[in-house]
Amino acid sequence: MDFSGALNIVLVLVASCLLFLLACRKKKFKNLPPGPTPLPFIGNMHQVDVKELIKSLRELSGTYGPMYTFHLGSRPCVVLSGYKVLKEALIDKAEEFSGRGDFPAVQMWSNGNGIVYGTGERWRSLRRFAISTLKNFGMGKRSLEERIKEEAQFLMAEFRKTQGKPFDPTFFLSCAGSNIICTLVFGDRFEYTDKKFLTLLDLINSNWKLMSSTWGQLLFTFPKIMRHVPGPHRLIYKNYLKLAEFVRERIEMNRETLDSNHMRDFIDCFLIKLQQEKNNPDSHFSEETMSKTTVNLFFAGTETVSSTLRYGLRILLRHPEVEEKLHEEIDRVIGPNRSPCMEDRSRMPYTDAVLHEIQRYADIVPMGVPHTVTRDIEFRGYTLPKVPDLNIIPLLCTSQFDPTQFKNPNSFDPTHFLDENGRFRKNDALMAFSAGNGQIETSIRPRLVVVGLGCVWPSARSVFFAERFSADSVK
Ligand code: HEM
Repeated sequence: MDFSGALNIVLVLVASCLLFLLACRKKKFKNLPPGPTPLPFIGNMHQVDVKELIKSLRELSGTYGPMYTFHLGSRPCVVLSGYKVLKEALIDKAEEFSGRGDFPAVQMWSNGNGIVYGTGERWRSLRRFAISTLKNFGMGKRSLEERIKEEAQFLMAEFRKTQGKPFDPTFFLSCAGSNIICTLVFGDRFEYTDKKFLTLLDLINSNWKLMSSTWGQLLFTFPKIMRHVPGPHRLIYKNYLKLAEFVRERIEMNRETLDSNHMRDFIDCFLIKLQQEKNNPDSHFSEETMSKTTVNLFFAGTETVSSTLRYGLRILLRHPEVEEKLHEEIDRVIGPNRSPCMEDRSRMPYTDAVLHEIQRYADIVPMGVPHTVTRDIEFRGYTLPKVPDLNIIPLLCTSQFDPTQFKNPNSFDPTHFLDENGRFRKNDALMAFSAGNGQIETSIRPRLVVVGLGCVWPSARSVFFAERFSADSVK
């Protein structure tokens, strides 16, 4: 029997389908910025080091400029690099660039729900609600500031136990960073020895590590396939389920003791919101949304803050001349007998500049999160269509290290945030929390981080450099 005729027909059919798909794709993405030539299926992955994806993307911008197309597997991504283009996109066209792109590690579990990976109107309402709720916790007797000061004391107690001997503060900083979010979200902090708390920290830590591992990068690049391939990356999903189970228990505890006249935490506020919205068939607020958003806040707020603190301490240890000046200001404005507070900030330009410079230099979310456009737009002469498979990758690190915005981008230099008279000077190229739309919630986030840093440092520093201060002088 001669199969060659049938084989030819199959080949012609396959080739026609491929050509048809290519033609459709060309039509959909008819005017994207140029970039390296992709191969079928793997895209441009053969041109980068998967373990050093960010470094490779930065290098490609050296060849293709501030805006180029990179194929992550078969999905095209428009990579934005450098302050100017990031500002034009994230600030000047904030609404258009506010769509959420692919982040499979989070999406596998969140399924389009929750504040971090929600979309459309639901995401917008959730965001408004979260921002105003968290802002309200910024005030009053149990304000965020008070909670942070309190946590700083617990942290210091742990540091003091080491009696000025060298030690690794990582664990304690994670506990402290996380506890600040815990008091906001769950109304209370945990002891640093609490088994449940430690399990939660392990789950969060494990997910961050998995996301940045080669398996995590493969999941990011080939989500459709990697979802079905066995491997450590699948633990990300399981860890999220465990976090969600803990949150579910806390929600039940809150529900049983809920008092609308005395809101203790974010969960209480959400439960009340659910009651208010129960007769609204179009409500964006549901039990599932509450659980996912709570996990999101807990997850997003834990590792980020503690990593910033850890980097900060490390940077200061390497820059004794900065640390010296910082401490002179702390001694002069705050003195040894009280905790720092937000009001001190305006009188401490050098400390403020150091905190900002740490956020720039530590650069803990260098690639931001992938975005999409919310409508078809013309941008810098190219057409970016509103389709789910076109990701926008804001390389935030390229703004934070942009030589046109910072005179010494690769060095740790607090004068990046000081004017010639030593006054604090803002610099919009600092995009640690992203920019534009992201700035709405930064009204709470820097406060949290900055006060956290401010509270911890004066005390922590004294312990680290115990030879200059007796432990009794540290409040
Ligand atoms: C130094 C600490 C932090 C850094 C560097 C950081 C950085 C970021 C970045 C780069 C994004 C992506 C923004 C975007 O592209 O739209 C983000 C999103 C987010 N972060 Fe943080 N973050 C920090 C602390 C926190 C804290 C303490 C919380 C919780 C209170 C938090 C909650 C969130 C949420 C909910 C989102 C999603 C926001 C949205 O979809 O609009 N982050 N963060």
